[in-house]
Amino acid sequence: MLITFEGIDGAGKTTQAKRLYEHLIGSRRKAVLYREPGGVPVSEKLREILVLSDLTVQAELFLFEAARAELVHRKIKPDLQAGFIVILDRFTDSTLAYQGYGRGIDLKLIKELNDFATGGLRPDVTFLLDIDPRSAIERLAKRSRFEDPDFLEKVRRGYLRIAEEDPERVMVIPSHPPTEEVFAEVRRFLKEKFDF
Ligand code: TMP
Repeated sequence: MLITFEGIDGAGKTTQAKRLYEHLIGSRRKAVLYREPGGVPVSEKLREILVLSDLTVQAELFLFEAARAELVHRKIKPDLQAGFIVILDRFTDSTLAYQGYGRGIDLKLIKELNDFATGGLRPDVTFLLDIDPRSAIERLAKRSRFEDPDFLEKVRRGYLRIAEEDPERVMVIPSHPPTEEVFAEVRRFLKEKFDF
């Protein structure tokens, strides 16, 4: 079972992903939590480059996909095979939303690269935490390269399109309410759909 959390910078997905991980471990489930880009040494190094450097859109896309390929093949696939619930803080939808809808790279190309990097792995469920960019930027603890509200609005609209196109998989949760209320929604959905 692969569960992903998505949303613009400052949407609160890292908090929710951790909350779910702790909940599952607390109820004695086998679960792991990774972030993208990251999760394995090479991907964490690529994260440093991606967060700090002024890259061309082309290079940026390849580095996100390279970080993803390392994490998927070295960790996520073996974990899934061993029966773990894998929780991911960002995955393929981030690339579609940021590099595709945000930066304007062809969506079809990104879908192909996503499939190539992951071997076609798709999440069972995706929680899209939806928030308006200005509130999200206010929440950001650390500076982000992507904190221009106009850019984040494009990314947000992209995410909402992805959700519209795949309503069975992507659950949109408004991220304004307090953390516990948002998490209650996550749990309610998982209970209804997968009984946990
Ligand atoms: P975050 O995980 O701390 O939010 O930081 C990762 C940053 O990288 C965030 O600004 C979104 C961006 N990103 C992309 O632009 N494309 C991607 O495919 C991924 C995974 C992240």
